Amino acid sequence: MSDTNDKTLTSSGFFVSQEAPITTDNPVPTPTSPPPDILRCAYVELVVTDLKRSRDFYVDVLGLTVTEEDDRCVYLRSLEEFIHHNLVLRQGTTAAAAAFAFRVRSPQELDRAVAFYTEAGCRVERSATGFTKGVGDSVRVTDPFGFPYEFFYDVEHVERLAWRYDLYTPGALVRLDHFNQVTPDVTRATRFLQDLGFRVTEDIADEEGTVYAAWMRRKATVHDTAMTGGDGPRMHHVAFATHEKHNILAICDKLGALRMSDCIERGPGRHGVSNAFYLYLRDPDGHRIEIYTQDYYTGDPDNPVVTWDVHDNQRRDWWGNPVVPSWYTDASLVLDLDGRPQPVIERVHNSELDVTIGADGFSYTKRGDDPAQLPSWKQGEYKLGHQL
Ligand SMILES: [Fe+2]
Repeated sequence: MSDTNDKTLTSSGFFVSQEAPITTDNPVPTPTSPPPDILRCAYVELVVTDLKRSRDFYVDVLGLTVTEEDDRCVYLRSLEEFIHHNLVLRQGTTAAAAAFAFRVRSPQELDRAVAFYTEAGCRVERSATGFTKGVGDSVRVTDPFGFPYEFFYDVEHVERLAWRYDLYTPGALVRLDHFNQVTPDVTRATRFLQDLGFRVTEDIADEEGTVYAAWMRRKATVHDTAMTGGDGPRMHHVAFATHEKHNILAICDKLGALRMSDCIERGPGRHGVSNAFYLYLRDPDGHRIEIYTQDYYTGDPDNPVVTWDVHDNQRRDWWGNPVVPSWYTDASLVLDLDGRPQPVIERVHNSELDVTIGADGFSYTKRGDDPAQLPSWKQGEYKLGHQL
């Protein structure tokens, strides 16, 4: 991932190093205009094909708070949020992600966003009245990788419900934590996000230098967004945080009680990457939602970058539980600024599914162990065809 070869193997089995500028043989030229000062991931706009069905899922099942709604859109927020929304559900004919929105530090940063992306040759739209309710002056762009981003500062403040314990449910979602995007060339896309001011916190790579995924932050957590290798541009998931691990277990119990267990795609479990506790759900349109809690502080300038070997079968689940194939293959379309689905470009580098799961794939639990010594049912992490 970086120019440095001075990666140090830790007693936990992954490597650490200091972040360096990423090199790639076909970088998007770095704009000379300074990037906007991004604070954090703020909201995602999802197109859903049955607004009532989606509202039922996000409000009645997951417990998000409705800030405002009309016939066309539902604006939702988490319990600790003070801005108008963290999630917009918009009725449409094709399920897709319409915008990944980041909040910037001041209104002036929008001028920087316009200059930065214009110089990068991107389509840029600015709306003084915003693209969604509750948000004022905003910039939307299609970035060089086909992702729809929004940048805004001006936003309606609403009540932060953190003290309203009468409203909490056992699985309360308290913050938006991060986005996760699928792109064919992780190194190239991550390098451009470094130019946008993001810091790399973790990645998954192999000894030949192929990068399978990378995590990047603006706020002082493991990430505001991640790039996952695959056919893209697509949205892999959007993640909401709970306070504690038991809140995630309560969501599983509730889904069972509602006979909705088939919404659970993967987990619950403990990630290797990020060290967070997780659960992956699929909403009624198949959009993937992660419930996430208890990663670690990353705000120091010399925060070590964690690098995981793609063959370490604890990288994506610290307990070694298998990653289901759909988690690698499925993702949501993303839209251009006219609302049309972006064409999906095939990944050309090795796929993580193939190198860990497929016929030639292998993984190990402990570095140095012969993968052939793993129990046959564990070899290859989750051999296709081995499941019943
Ligand atoms: Fe995630």
